[in-house]
Amino acid sequence: MLAAHDGARDDRVAVVVEAVDARGYAVAPRFLDARTVAGLRARALSLEADGLLAPAGIGRGPQRIERAAIRGDRIRWLGDPGNDAVEKSLHEALEALRLAFNRELALGLFEFEGHYALYAPGAGYARHRDRFHDDDARLLSVVLYLNGRWRAHDGGLLRLHRENDRAVDVLPIGGTLVAFLADRFEHEVLPARRSRLSVTGWFRRRA
Ligand code: OGA
Ligand code: MN
Repeated sequence: MLAAHDGARDDRVAVVVEAVDARGYAVAPRFLDARTVAGLRARALSLEADGLLAPAGIGRGPQRIERAAIRGDRIRWLGDPGNDAVEKSLHEALEALRLAFNRELALGLFEFEGHYALYAPGAGYARHRDRFHDDDARLLSVVLYLNGRWRAHDGGLLRLHRENDRAVDVLPIGGTLVAFLADRFEHEVLPARRSRLSVTGWFRRRA
């Protein structure tokens, strides 16, 4: 079945693509609807309750290490959404984004790999870039926040470092999407005072 044409979604997607085209990154509040955000948040919390989140690593293959002082989130990779309505609407939103990037900017994004992430209070992710040393397939980084209300004193900012310009700080408010060119920006997650939830992932080109 064809998805119903969603003009509001088309607009949100177009704004993200234009911003990435113009300056390499986009911050889009209310990119995901509140219902999908609440459903994904519930999913992340039940994975946590069931002990299914695992410490995230740095690097991959034989180089992979776990260092909570550098990277403190616990994650679970997304699988096929199957018949899960919530994960299907996430999948549709990401697919709309992927197709628009390919159509407008010819990025050749081929697939998405992503995970739920939970940063417990005090956990963060030190300044880094989202590329493996031996693999440049990750073109675009995407983060979707799943938190409800979030205020500055809750911490947990995403800090995106720009060359020759001030850093951009983003509050991880539910529904906000951040997208940026993976090789271009160093960034970090400042420690939060509350549990901080997201779906984080990467659009890759064909390896
Ligand atoms: C990452 C990352 C940013 C965020 O997982 O690589 O940089 O705001 N996450 O969660
Ligand atoms: Mn990152």
